[in-house]
This record gives sequence, C-alpha cells and structure tokens, in this order.
Amino acid sequence: MSISSEKSDIELQPFEAVDVLGKNEKDSDRPKALLLLLAILLIVIFSVYFIFVNLRYFGIKVEKECPTNWTSLNRTMGEWCVQVFFGNINLAEAQQICSNNSAVISSIENTDELQLFSKMAQVSHKNYIYVGARRTEKCMNSKLSDVCTKETSFEWTDGFTKGVEGFQWEDTQPDNHLGDQKCVVLGVKTSLLDDERESAMRGGVICGARPN
Ligand SMILES: *[C@@H]1O[C@H](CO)[C@@H](O)[C@H](O)[C@H]1NC(C)=O
Ligand SMILES: *[C@@H]1O[C@H](CO)[C@@H](O)[C@H](O)[C@H]1NC(C)=O
Ligand SMILES: *[C@@H]1O[C@H](CO)[C@@H](O)[C@H](O)[C@H]1NC(C)=O
Repeated sequence: MSISSEKSDIELQPFEAVDVLGKNEKDSDRPKALLLLLAILLIVIFSVYFIFVNLRYFGIKVEKECPTNWTSLNRTMGEWCVQVFFGNINLAEAQQICSNNSAVISSIENTDELQLFSKMAQVSHKNYIYVGARRTEKCMNSKLSDVCTKETSFEWTDGFTKGVEGFQWEDTQPDNHLGDQKCVVLGVKTSLLDDERESAMRGGVICGARPN
C-alpha cells in the first residue's frame, strides 16, 4: 500500500510542474521570454564576432599586419616587414636577434631597399649592419672572377627576395679578404654592400618577416 502511494506521488509531480509553467507563460512570462530571446541574440552576435576576430588563429588569415613599429615593404613576392636592431654583434648574434623577433635577417631586393635600410640605420652612429646573404658554394674560396661576379658570388637568404638588383657593392667589393668573407653587411653611409667575416662585430642587423 505505502509503496504504490509513493509511486503515484512521484508520477504526479512532473505533471503539476508542467501545468504551472503553462499557466505562468500565458500570464506574466512574456518579458522573460523576450529577455531570453535578447540573450540568445547577444550570444549569437558575440559568437560571430569572436569567430571572425579569431579566424587567424585557425589558419584563415583575415588581415595580415606588420608588427608595431616595423616598416611595411611591397616586394615582388608580396608584403615584407622590416626593422633594424642595433648592437655590437657578430652574424650568429644578428641571427639570434631576428629569430627572437620571429624574423630572419632581411635580404635586399632593390635600390630603394638599399637606401631605406641604410636610412633606418642612420639614427644610430653605426657604420655597418648585417643583411641576409651568404657566399655561394661555388664561390666559397673565390675572389671576383668571370664565374664569381658581383651578382653570383652571393645569394639571398631570407627566402623572400627576387633578383640581383640589391647586389650593389662598395668599391672593389666583394673582395673575399683572406678568403674568409662568407656574409654581407650594408654600409650605413654608402647604402652599398661589403662582404664580411661571420665573426666580425658590426653595428646591427636588418630583420625581416612576413606580416601575420
Ligand atoms: C614603438 O616606437 C615608439 C616610439 O619610439 C615606442 O615608444 C614604442 O615603445 C614602440 N613600440 C613597440 C611595440 O616597440
Ligand atoms: C603595393 O602593391 C599593391 C599591389 O601591387 C598596391 O595596390 C599598393 O598600393 C602598393 N602599396 C605601396 C605602399 O606601394
Ligand atoms: C634571445 O632570446 C633568448 C631567450 O629569451 C635570450 O636568452 C637571448 O639573450 C636573446 N638573444 C638576443 C640576441 O636577443
């Protein structure tokens, strides 16, 4: 007897609850329903906004930008961001500075960039900054020759530079002095290049990166 009575109580309760809700909706719950709609609408708007703003983190680039204070360049291959960093540094340290800034040592695509990079470096009183080029394998132990010319002795290393217009050298350079000059620096005053030892302490580096 007692068990069946408890059962019927349990069965009744959900029915009563539904009934109460039904009544209330008719009378005083319209404002609540409107609030609910408004909340859903806000959630939808926020979700769309959140997804749009964060698309880049899912690999879909909405708008790419250079980092704050970096300079944007129009290259043959697309937009390129550059910034000069100063110090008394060798090539390895120059690479480290760029890599710490999610960048590589920037190469030089043309005359405009030769002039721009040296101008950017002029705020310091440095004479030379590292740029992204290395001596080619075939010219590793060579001076200038018919095979190893001013345009073929070195190659760009930033992976985003086309052509050889940027290979404009100071007088008598690149001379591979002591057969040991495997990298390249930019003369801040001359806007021209010089080949250099990897261990040479120079005044800075031009770093480059794709916008992200
Ligand atoms: C950008 O340059 C300004 C002026 O030199 C400087 O105050 C600011 O800290 C720099 N911002 C960043 C993110 O480097
Ligand atoms: C860069 O190149 C694009 C397309 O070639 C052009 O629309 C844009 O104006 C250029 N920007 C600058 C700063 O030269
Ligand atoms: C690069 O970052 C590392 C780790 O933060 C730091 O130890 C190192 O000094 C940085 N190097 C340069 C050249 O800024």
